[in-house]
Amino acid sequence: MRSPSRHAFFATLLVLFVALAPVATRAADFKREVIYQIITDRFFDGSTANNNPPQSAGLYDSTQTNWREYWGGDLAGIQQKMSYLAGLGVTAIWISPPVDNLNTNIPDGQGNPTASYHGYQGRDFKRVEEHFGNASNTWTDFDNLVTAAHAAGIKVVIDFAPNHTTQDNAGEFGAFYDNGAFVGNYTSDTNGYFHHNANISGTGWDDRYQVEYFTLFDLADLNQENATVDNYLKSAAQQFQQHGVDGFRIDAVKHVTWGWEYSFANSIYTFGDSFLFGEWYQGNTSDPLYHDSYKFANKSGISLLDFPLNTAIRNVFASNTNFSDIDSVISQEGSNFTWKEDLVTFIDNHDMARFLSVNNNNNRLHEAMAFVLTSRGIPCIYYGTEQYLHNDTSGGTDPYNRPMMPGFSTTTTAYALTGKLSTLRHTNPAIPYGSMSQRWMNSDVYIYERKFFGSVALVAINKNDTTAYSISGLNTSLPAGTYSDYLTGLLGGSSITVSTGTGGNNPVAAFSLPAHTVAVWQFNEGAAPPEVGSIGPTSAQPGVKVTIAGRNFGATQGAGSVKFGTTAAAVNSWSDTKIVATVPGVANGSYSVTVTNNGGAVSNGIQFTVLTAKLIPVTFTVFNATPTVTGDYIFLTGNTVELGNWATTWDGATGPMLTPNYPNWFLNVSVPAGQTIQFKFIKIAANGAVTWEAGANHTYTVPTSGVGFVNVNWQY
Ligand code: NOJ
Ligand code: NOJ
Repeated sequence: MRSPSRHAFFATLLVLFVALAPVATRAADFKREVIYQIITDRFFDGSTANNNPPQSAGLYDSTQTNWREYWGGDLAGIQQKMSYLAGLGVTAIWISPPVDNLNTNIPDGQGNPTASYHGYQGRDFKRVEEHFGNASNTWTDFDNLVTAAHAAGIKVVIDFAPNHTTQDNAGEFGAFYDNGAFVGNYTSDTNGYFHHNANISGTGWDDRYQVEYFTLFDLADLNQENATVDNYLKSAAQQFQQHGVDGFRIDAVKHVTWGWEYSFANSIYTFGDSFLFGEWYQGNTSDPLYHDSYKFANKSGISLLDFPLNTAIRNVFASNTNFSDIDSVISQEGSNFTWKEDLVTFIDNHDMARFLSVNNNNNRLHEAMAFVLTSRGIPCIYYGTEQYLHNDTSGGTDPYNRPMMPGFSTTTTAYALTGKLSTLRHTNPAIPYGSMSQRWMNSDVYIYERKFFGSVALVAINKNDTTAYSISGLNTSLPAGTYSDYLTGLLGGSSITVSTGTGGNNPVAAFSLPAHTVAVWQFNEGAAPPEVGSIGPTSAQPGVKVTIAGRNFGATQGAGSVKFGTTAAAVNSWSDTKIVATVPGVANGSYSVTVTNNGGAVSNGIQFTVLTAKLIPVTFTVFNATPTVTGDYIFLTGNTVELGNWATTWDGATGPMLTPNYPNWFLNVSVPAGQTIQFKFIKIAANGAVTWEAGANHTYTVPTSGVGFVNVNWQY
């Protein structure tokens, strides 16, 4: 080939490559994703070179029989299985913590030598674990994985554990490093990098102070209010963003200082587009800290894994309780969580027995999978579920819930089901953005509807092993017509006929729903005004870019606009389903954000909080705040949205504050950098009665970086 034609050839290649490369997607709208959770060590061994690295030799078990040692899975292994994942319909992977971990074995509670193959004992948050990458702890394998994932249209979420380093009483005694340079350890902690309290135990699991400041299972508990620790964690997260990660699953979010986490999230969003969800473990919506969990999700910028729904899903599908268990959680959470569609839903994970260990019934597993893939929230599938992976030793709990991937078949029913419903999540906005309402229910049958403006999906599940149910009196928002099962009978579904009714209640002709059936019927509306289903992040200061997603925005902006209240925002990019805009310089507060299309049609509004400035964590202490009786709490309120805009309610004010040294109360709160804030403390009594401290407002100028401390006396 002569040079000119060779150029032409490479130019053609380049065009081809650009054309084939997926359109750059924004991570901040995760509602259309299907997440797949991977324990890196247990997925696939892509490189034998890193199985027994020199700095942590002897932690590898080549026989894969000692469940507490490394088994060889690595980042290269995940990379090699990318087309398997894409075929499964996975659009995001959540990988176990990839950072450099403990280099030794430590006996577990039963005395078994245990390595940190799971990743939750980090020693250097700025380097990659040698068992997963290479013996120099460099980023090469991590970067290759991210590149391959993005090329396959798959986002990468890392598990990030800001609560702790390694075990505090053995092994490396909590020692941590900043890109190889020693920072500190637990045993000679002269700089106050750690909290030195007992393990959380007993009723302490329900006590806000213990939950946040005591020790989780002997793991050296980082003090995020320390300026060095604060900077270390935020810069480590930022380094992952620089290496291309799209989101963070935040480990043990309930056990990290809650107020500090608002500033952690803000630091990530200020640097770049991301999606954050945290592990707030709780059994159900009666948990003593359930209210705190949704206040946190509504204000921190961090969504949560939906543990209450997880419990209900396991009860209903594995333990055969009534569908009302699921229905009541959906409606309770629906009234508590502002951005409920961002909750991450799941059947099982690495901390509980796999579904099939609880009930070895593939039909039920398929039904549970179809439920999480079509119901409210972002579905997360635990690795191996699609291969019916389970090991039932000791009831299948940790570590037996973390077997090696048994194989990579692409012909299982579960594999096909995930793929089909992932496609639906992308093609019909009712699944990611729609409301969820129950349309027909008995103990075995649940028929629910997802609806986003005129787009509708109706899902029917019968979990009974033998009994078919005759379904009559079912109404739907689907327009009149005949609908075939979107799953084309994969789980036994067939078609329905809908006739015209009134008020969004169109009758469905009576039909029979056989035992172990899931059917999905759906309708995508045609041309309509702009419809907004998502905004991410949900709070940010002026200048930060936010992603607004939905449909019918129009292919080009033209005369169209994005408004925060009545103020137009700069638009960075515009497509029919996704707009990136910059938060305008409006006063801090809550805003309704709307999209106006080129023709002047205005969308629905979606709630967004404009912060005053980037957030700095400040510890407020008020001395001698008395008198209080049990059930009374001191809260902080003040003159910016971060402080509650002088609100005096439990949800509006900041708090409750903590009182390990009664009658002194303290709280770490993320407040706007460089601002002179005005604030006061209030008592909210058990019956809601509010008592203000006397005197003038306190004032404080927040530092522009680092952390801050304020100490004042309650004014009588
Ligand atoms: C919760 C994680 O999911 C669990 O696996 C881990 O052991 C603890 N947090 C401590 O990091
Ligand atoms: C007694 C106080 O009356 C109550 O309000 C407070 O919660 C506890 N002390 C804390 O120890």
